[in-house]
Amino acid sequence: MAKFILRKAEPKDVSDILRLIKELAKFEEMEEQVKLTEKDLLEDGFGDHPFYHCLVAEIPEEQSSDGYTVIAFAMYYFTYDPWIGKLLYLEDFYVMQQYRGLGIGSKILQVLSETAVKTRCSSMHFIVAENNTKSIEFYKHRGATDLSYEEGWRLFAINKMELVKMSGK
Ligand code: COA
Repeated sequence: MAKFILRKAEPKDVSDILRLIKELAKFEEMEEQVKLTEKDLLEDGFGDHPFYHCLVAEIPEEQSSDGYTVIAFAMYYFTYDPWIGKLLYLEDFYVMQQYRGLGIGSKILQVLSETAVKTRCSSMHFIVAENNTKSIEFYKHRGATDLSYEEGWRLFAINKMELVKMSGK
């Protein structure tokens, strides 16, 4: 197994985080949708009231074949469900291809589970693209249930233009 450590992301990690966000978006064939900048990540994740939390996996420099030492990340935040209370929402989760299948993803989920239990969250929620069958299997092996299938939920969004219209500005 690759030698790696898991740690909380620090401000110096924002360029690696953005690189991994873009890699995941490319994997999902939606790279052009990434509008976020390093500045956004810095402002939004490291102030007094962070909008997100991030775990990164890091390998020693001598183990890196391409110069990158931050090789995986999980972005999450806490949210609230009026039926069951506190939730940990896993927003992005990605291990670089050459490091997959080595237990890094499982370790990240273990740490996130510990965080969820410690903060007394009732559940961890996340969305997965329908065609991402490998990940769906990965989550199902770890006890995940598909709420879209079981309960019929659909994900909606109202974009900024519509919000501006509704706000009357
Ligand atoms: N690539 C992917 N999965 C592999 C693999 C490989 N080369 N080799 C083995 N696997 C299997 C393992 O058998 C294991 O399955 P299990 O459920 O039977 O334990 C699982 O896939 C990998 O476990 P692990 O090594 O702990 O996870 P990981 O480090 O590969 O991370 C993902 C899991 C899903 C985060 C990672 O594969 C990934 O980044 N995938 C692409 C992006 C993605 O789909 N992200 C999730 C979006 S919701």
